[in-house]
Amino acid sequence: MKKFSAVLLAGLLFSCGEVQKVEIPKDKEEKIVQVGDSASMKLLKSLKSELMSAMQKGGLDEAVTVCNKKAMEITSQIEKETGYSMKRTTFKYRNPANAPDKYEAEALKYFEENIKQGKMPSYYIQALNDNGKVVYRYYKPLKVEGVCLTCHGDPNLMDKKLVERIKTLYPNDKAVGYKEGDFRGLVRVSIPADKI
Ligand code: HEC
Repeated sequence: MKKFSAVLLAGLLFSCGEVQKVEIPKDKEEKIVQVGDSASMKLLKSLKSELMSAMQKGGLDEAVTVCNKKAMEITSQIEKETGYSMKRTTFKYRNPANAPDKYEAEALKYFEENIKQGKMPSYYIQALNDNGKVVYRYYKPLKVEGVCLTCHGDPNLMDKKLVERIKTLYPNDKAVGYKEGDFRGLVRVSIPADKI
């Protein structure tokens, strides 16, 4: 009997701690997309303008510093401004902090499957219940542009010093070998249900 209740208790604790996927109310979809799109665009614009001005001012060294030191800082600043938590995530990551969780991996697979069939959805949304608190997740796809190849392209064609610097900062870097137009990953925006 004692053993049985211990198993039961463990089971209960486990199910309480687990995040569960739930239905997205149909009447909320449009608003989730609107809020998610505007927040993710804000983050992307900020990251890109910092990157471009660093490349113009200080060249590659400065630009890597922006991506390395400032990407997270800029993200926290936009999170504060919008009130929504955000993350860039991908299977082929440079910083392990950007590795996908279970639900982000599901979203990445959704895009990969669609891309295989020649389609490119403009977003993906989920609703997750975490201990009674529902959070919507909006995902925006990112594509590789010409400028990205400077740091995410074929290492043989990249600046040698830059390749070394990236290797020192990220010994397990997976974010190279991309081509222009490739699917790079997602921006995730988490929107608490009570904000919609
Ligand atoms: C000057 C070099 C540089 C350029 C140019 C650059 N990146 Fe990055 N990128 C980095 C570095 C360094 C990181 C790791 C950031 C960190 O530690 O959080 C990174 C991380 C990322 C991530 C987060 C996921 C991961 O792999 O860790 C995404 C997504 C990303 N870059 C997309 C892009 C896109 C899209 C472009 C072009 C618009 C681009 N990058 C241009 C250096 C660069």
